[in-house]
Amino acid sequence: MPLPYNRRTCYCGEVGLGHVGQTILLCGWVQVRRDHGGLIFVDLRDRTGIVQLKFNPETDPQSHAAAGRLRSEYCICVRGEVARRPEGLVNPNLATGAVEVNVRELDILSASETPVFALEDEIDTNEETRLEYRFLDLRRRPMQRALILRHRIAKTIRDYFDEHGFIEVETPFLTKSTPEGARDYLVPSRVSPGTFYALPQSPQLFKQLLMMSGFDRYVQIVRCFRDEDLRADRQPEFTQLDMEMSFVQPEDVQHVIEGCLARVMKTALGVDVPTPFPRMTYEQALREYGIDRPDTRYDLRIKEVSAVARRVEFPVFVEALARGGVVRAICVPGGGGMTRKETDTLAEDMKGIGAGGLPLVKVAEEGGRPVFQTGIAKFFTPETTAELLAAVGGSPGDAVFFAAGPEADVCKHLAWLRETVAKRRNLIPAGKWNFLWVVEFPMFEFHAEDQRWYAVHHPFTAPRDEDVDIFDREPGRARAKAYDVVLNGIEIGGGSVRIHRADVQQRVFRMLDITPEEQQLKFGFLLKALSYGPPPHGGIALGLDRIVMLLAGMPSIRDVLAFPKTARATCLLTGAPSPVAPAQLEELYLRTTAPKK
Ligand code: AMO
Repeated sequence: MPLPYNRRTCYCGEVGLGHVGQTILLCGWVQVRRDHGGLIFVDLRDRTGIVQLKFNPETDPQSHAAAGRLRSEYCICVRGEVARRPEGLVNPNLATGAVEVNVRELDILSASETPVFALEDEIDTNEETRLEYRFLDLRRRPMQRALILRHRIAKTIRDYFDEHGFIEVETPFLTKSTPEGARDYLVPSRVSPGTFYALPQSPQLFKQLLMMSGFDRYVQIVRCFRDEDLRADRQPEFTQLDMEMSFVQPEDVQHVIEGCLARVMKTALGVDVPTPFPRMTYEQALREYGIDRPDTRYDLRIKEVSAVARRVEFPVFVEALARGGVVRAICVPGGGGMTRKETDTLAEDMKGIGAGGLPLVKVAEEGGRPVFQTGIAKFFTPETTAELLAAVGGSPGDAVFFAAGPEADVCKHLAWLRETVAKRRNLIPAGKWNFLWVVEFPMFEFHAEDQRWYAVHHPFTAPRDEDVDIFDREPGRARAKAYDVVLNGIEIGGGSVRIHRADVQQRVFRMLDITPEEQQLKFGFLLKALSYGPPPHGGIALGLDRIVMLLAGMPSIRDVLAFPKTARATCLLTGAPSPVAPAQLEELYLRTTAPKK
């Protein structure tokens, strides 16, 4: 009689001292088999953990004989009696380590090929192989933990929003392109030859329409699609926690999100995070951290030193300042102890992101006074030395690194330096969760290539009340009611209060050179809706994958997605994307011009 595997009594990880003396039925996979002087031990694994099975040839010759055929990853069902492990054989590293199961009956439900890599917690298998055999990779405990954590976080979010009166509404996947700025994934229409749907980059316009329909508080955990260059924290399809509210100012949206994230941190990690989160203006973030998503877990702040640099005859400073640029610096406490190799590698790596070099000085002490050594020390007088140290807050034993040039480049280079030095010198404290709102983003940015203004967020973002009258006269100065939420230096969400006045919207379109024809073509439906009593509204979207990645302590969002794509946007498991039959293309009135491989 085969064992009734549908009558499992508990999961492997649940077996404990409370079961001693009981007969239980377990299902799972063979992690390892060990043969010990006649006895056979098997670690049986399911998604909850591992329990030790014991097969004794004296008492259970039949199941012992069958156990001899077991190999790694065979799927089995066993019935047996739980016993306390003999004194001295207790495994304190295993949750079930105080017990073992004396197996009376064993059913091999299915055999397995030898796995192509060991299904252990720590493996150094390359990611391509792991992705090709994702179904095996996902049997590993860290992967199972991450996906279970993801489930827990999503459930917490849904419960929270439900408690706060939000309604989850599904928005279409086959839609018109939304203005999020990345390339669209297109889907050809069969019934309307030559036309295409776009997969949504976000439900932005639909959630605004829902506000106009009076839903007042909308939420959705939703897949979004963007055809952009991929990085460790980007995927072509990813999941947003998307929300929108009516009759709100930025702080109302922020308040709801703070409550949600604090709840998530408590449920997922047991961590209390203080609310409200700190707020920093975009301007301050760029000035002090060089980036709009500062990691505030460590200091290493950027200091403006143009005033003193003006009196330092170092040619790089002289030239940068003469061209209207800036000189800024970072003081690394204890950086005086960095080796020549360390600073040379930094300089070399920094060239990789477009910097010309990495001028530095080390701070030492001579006759009770701080002096500069090495690098560009010889260009400093006692006066400029003292002045620079006052500006950067340095003291003997520190090192000061400089960047000179156009402001945007200096920000980029010093932001890179800050993060790299913090990582390489282990300056990032463990166990810190620094949430931060970056607020008052500029409305527009000027692109020199095509000499025009672009929306920093999207064209429906409202200006701050004090900028409503001036934004088209002084576009570079206008600030938006836009905000990002940052966790440990990673942008986990972004949103804004939207424009609900037709006249303001028209002026923004004019600023962005979006012609009336283009407006109608792209967002005619939204503009129509805006003329039927739209409520003031705003919202935000959080990147769920990024949040789970950070909370799971994983280095890439691929590790918190069951079936992710590679950096080339391919799925190594299924082989997508792939060519299709000519008949399929014909039906869609399509022909490809891609060169034959
Ligand atoms: P935004 O474009 O800032 O805003 O996106 C919101 C958040 O989504 C996450 N995210 C991504 N995660 C993984 N892979 C990607 N390719 C990717 N792109 C974005 C980030 C980001 O902060 N409609 C607006 C929101 C609004 O205004 O309400 C929007 O989509 O964590």
